[in-house]
Amino acid sequence: MQAVQVDDLRGRLRSDTRSSHDRLDRHVSTFDLGEPDGLRSFLAMQLMALTRLEPLAKNSICAPAIHDLRARAEFDLRGLDETTALSCPDLTFTPHPMSVDYVIAGSRVGTAILRKRWLASKNAEVRATSAYFSAPTYMDMWRAFCDRATRETSSGPQADRIVGDAIGLFDFYGHCAASACA
Ligand code: HEM
Repeated sequence: MQAVQVDDLRGRLRSDTRSSHDRLDRHVSTFDLGEPDGLRSFLAMQLMALTRLEPLAKNSICAPAIHDLRARAEFDLRGLDETTALSCPDLTFTPHPMSVDYVIAGSRVGTAILRKRWLASKNAEVRATSAYFSAPTYMDMWRAFCDRATRETSSGPQADRIVGDAIGLFDFYGHCAASACA
């Protein structure tokens, strides 16, 4: 088995959050992005999570991306006639800015896969719902985050807090995913 480099914060984040990420991937993969209902659930999950995160993310590199993606998810949901009031789960802690950067900028890597699922749809309503999946990739933010996290130590109270908060954010996204299809 290939050894995982966890001497720096970048490596520890990948390794320690892997099971939380896998769990969330499995949950989000139940949303069929090729059909209006699945797309609606996915966008509702994003809108709920980003709405809670936005006021807490002022010191994160990805704050402008959070604002933009939240607005795009909201716009798309309106187009899908989503009039039900969303019941956003509470975010019960203030995440460290680097944990927000990891989860949000990192999620853009996985979005490339999700975008392909959306693009493959033959459904006209789905194809017309394009604001979220036409967003910039924000890979510059992801690279900036990785550069910084590679220079930070993987041990000590600050690293423990960032990793713990990142796991908390994956769990929070899971609550939003559950709430989106309730
Ligand atoms: C079905 C849904 C998803 C799929 C299929 C998916 C898939 C992926 C893939 C393939 C990568 C690249 C892994 C690598 O380069 O080693 C990735 C990275 C990442 N994704 Fe997801 N993802 C999904 C949802 C999410 C969500 C909802 C979030 C967070 C809100 C998220 C957060 C991340 C993070 C933080 C990374 C960077 C991992 C690292 O390199 O440390 N993903 N994702």
